[in-house]
Amino acid sequence: MRIGVLTAGGDAPGLNAAIRAIGQMALRDGHEVIGIANGWAGLADEYAGRPLHASDLQGVIAQGGTLLGTARYNLDNPPGGRERVLSAIEEHLDGLISIGGDGTHRISTWLADHGAPIVGVPKTLDNDLLGTDYCIGFDTAISIVAESIDRLYTTAASHHRVMVVETMGRLTGWVAAMGGLAGGADMIVIPEFPVTMDDIMKHLERRVAAGLAFSIVVVAEGVNLSTLGGTEKGELSTEGVGGVRLATRGVGQFVASKIEEHTAIEVRTTVLGHLQRGGSPTAHDRIWATRVGAGAYDAVTSGKFGTIPVVRDNNVVLSPLSSVIGGQRQVPREIYELCSVFF
Ligand code: F6P
Repeated sequence: MRIGVLTAGGDAPGLNAAIRAIGQMALRDGHEVIGIANGWAGLADEYAGRPLHASDLQGVIAQGGTLLGTARYNLDNPPGGRERVLSAIEEHLDGLISIGGDGTHRISTWLADHGAPIVGVPKTLDNDLLGTDYCIGFDTAISIVAESIDRLYTTAASHHRVMVVETMGRLTGWVAAMGGLAGGADMIVIPEFPVTMDDIMKHLERRVAAGLAFSIVVVAEGVNLSTLGGTEKGELSTEGVGGVRLATRGVGQFVASKIEEHTAIEVRTTVLGHLQRGGSPTAHDRIWATRVGAGAYDAVTSGKFGTIPVVRDNNVVLSPLSSVIGGQRQVPREIYELCSVFF
C-alpha cells in the first residue's frame, strides 16, 4: 500500500513522533510511506510527495516542528483546491493520513465524503478539537507556560510588580487555564469565562490588601477585548487561515496598560507567542502522538477511512472524522472554578 502522510496548519511539538510511528509501522509491514511536504499545498499545487526511509525517521521523536513542513493553506480561495487534492490522492496514493486541527479535518471530512481513503490525527496546540481528550502539542505548550510563570514569579516578587502573561489560544483558553494552573497563576482570563477590567482590578487590590504586592495574570490571546473595555478591530476567525492574527490584537498589553492606569502597581507584559510551539516535545506528547499515529496507521491499513483515532479515558478509540469538527471543545466550568480557587 502507498500511504501518504501530511501535517497541516500550525506546527506543534510531537508531530514528528506521530510521523515516525506511522512511517516505522508502514516500513515494518512492507508498505511504502510517502511524506507530503507543506500540508495541503503539497497535493493541491505541484505534487510534493517523497518516499520516507528508515533514516528519515531516526532521532526525530525528540525534535519539535514537523520534518514534512507545514502551511496554512486555503483550499477554497481561489476555489478548486479541494478537487485538486482529491485528484492528487487518486493519482498518487492508496491512503492518506492528515495530521491537523479543526480546519484540517474539515477538509479531511470533505475528502472522505468524496471517496478519498483518508484518516486523520488530532493536533492542535490549543487543545480544543471536539471529541478528544488529547491533541498533539498541548502538553508541551502548557509545560512551557508553567515554566515561564515559574521564572516570571521570582522577578515579579522581587520588584512587587504585576506580570501579565499572554498565551496562545485562538478561541478557547485551555493553554492559559492549564498552563496557569500548573504555574500557580494568581488570575487567569480566558474566552469561555469573560471578566471585566473591574473584576481584575478588584482581585489585584484584594491581593495587595492581603500583603501580596505582586501578581501573575495569565491572559489567553483570544479573550474578547470589548468585554475588557477595548475595541475589536475585526472579526475573530474560526479558521486556521485568514482572519485576524490574534497575537497582533495585544490583549496582554491592553490588560497591563489598564492595570497601570488604575493602580499604582508597576506592570510588565510577556507574550509567550511561538515559544509555546517550538522545541522538543514532552514525554507525554511523544507517547500520545506515537499512540494516535499508530491508531491512524492501523485504521488506514484496515480500510477504516473517514475516521480519526481520538483519546478518551486514556484509550485510543476510532471516531468518525465528522465528530471532531464544527465547534470547539471549551474549558469546562469545573476546571475554571478549580483554577479560581487559587486566585
Ligand atoms: O491555532 C493554533 C495557534 O497556535 C493559535 O493558538 C495561534 O493563534 C496561532 O496558531 C498562531 O498561528 P501562526 O503560527 O500562523 O501565527
